[in-house]
Amino acid sequence: MKQVRDLSQSDKCYFMEWLKIFPSEEVARATMKEDKPRLLIVNNKRICLALHQGGFFAVQDTCTHNGESLSKGKVNYLGEIVCPWHNYRFALSSGEAQDSTCRDLTTYALKWDTSGVFIRI
Ligand code: FES
Repeated sequence: MKQVRDLSQSDKCYFMEWLKIFPSEEVARATMKEDKPRLLIVNNKRICLALHQGGFFAVQDTCTHNGESLSKGKVNYLGEIVCPWHNYRFALSSGEAQDSTCRDLTTYALKWDTSGVFIRI
């Protein structure tokens, strides 16, 4: 017999969805400055959005070392986000911590089409 599980309010269900963050790629490129990250708050999540060598990247904004906002930092020539507090570095493409034993950052997928630029949250 097939069991059907009743989802009570205490069960947590997580769904990923694509949310529009810019109305077009042109607006995104006009808004962002190369290697100058910006803070986005999407679905109550703090996201650090960066433009590096023409590509967009999105990682969690909270540094895994001591919680500083990475969007206050900078992007170096290697495509790493550098935390402004203690200068720990994380690869924008993978979220991998580069010079510490800190946890890696969560990364978020981005996509764009004729209807806008979207982040997967
Ligand atoms: S809080 Fe980011 S490196 Fe320390």
